[in-house]
Amino acid sequence: MVDSRFDLTGKVAIVTGGAGGIGSATARLLASYGAKVLITDINQASLDAAQEMFKSENLDVVGYLTDSSDEKQSVAFFNKVEQLHGTADILVNNAYQGIHSPPHQTSLDEWNRVITTSLTGYFLYAREFANRLIAAKRSGQIVNISSIAGSSALGRGNFAYSAAKGGVNQLTRELAIEWARSKIRVNAIQPCSVNTPGWRRWIDSEGERGEQIVANLVSGIPLGRVAEPTDIASAVHFLVSDASAMVTGVILPVDGGNLVLNAGGTIGNYSG
Ligand SMILES: NC(=O)c1ccc[n+]([C@@H]2O[C@H](COP(=O)([O-])OP(=O)(O)OC[C@H]3O[C@@H](n4cnc5c(N)ncnc54)[C@H](O)[C@@H]3O)[C@@H](O)[C@H]2O)c1
Repeated sequence: MVDSRFDLTGKVAIVTGGAGGIGSATARLLASYGAKVLITDINQASLDAAQEMFKSENLDVVGYLTDSSDEKQSVAFFNKVEQLHGTADILVNNAYQGIHSPPHQTSLDEWNRVITTSLTGYFLYAREFANRLIAAKRSGQIVNISSIAGSSALGRGNFAYSAAKGGVNQLTRELAIEWARSKIRVNAIQPCSVNTPGWRRWIDSEGERGEQIVANLVSGIPLGRVAEPTDIASAVHFLVSDASAMVTGVILPVDGGNLVLNAGGTIGNYSG
């Protein structure tokens, strides 16, 4: 028997950075379960390509060019959503910008670019989303895409990204408590490396070292592979569906066991 709690028919879902790897996999899955999905992005070409793809798959996904780190644009976007589609039921905060820069050589502008998109934008969208739901006395779900970098250090110049993701984890816990009695659930997902076009570009840019980096990353993942975008999308689907009705304030690793493996631990080796 199919569990109807996973059905999203009649729901309006917003996915920020929805033209990217994890965002578009999430939009596809939520739309295939019946939601109308509104994806936002700052990259017009990627948005056009994503919309074209979703149209060919007969999925109800609409693209919006808007910057989620900008307060004015974010408020205007939510006003437009309200007008055109009604109050949104689901928010997936997913847009991000990263950095690979030594901390002692990083400018304030670079730090701010990462933090405003990867943390401040999550707050702005959560605020605008919850504001309207609370006024309408309606329930809703927020999923914040964090990273294992929110709980452990990556090195390689990721410090500003990690600081943003640590902030996302704590923002998730606080908002879950603040809005629980308003029936707005707030959860987060912490992926390990995910095989998205962006992640692949980073690996390829490392040239011959690339495959060594992948082997190193996988050696820390007990399940023995990096994640696929659909692995993350499935967890989002669970957390925005009624199947997770008693789940809020959770920071869920979707990381093949990466976070639970101690750096000195070994996988499946009983000799030492
Ligand atoms: N790919 C990974 O290995 C990995 C691992 C852990 C966590 N994550 C997290 O997953 C999420 C998605 O990552 P991805 O790999 O799919 O990234 P991606 O680069 O494929 O997509 C991100 C999208 O966000 C858009 N974007 C950037 N700034 C924006 C802004 N201010 N407003 C609106 N859109 C904006 C980009 O144009 C891009 O299309 C991020 O939060 C990232 O931190 C990814």
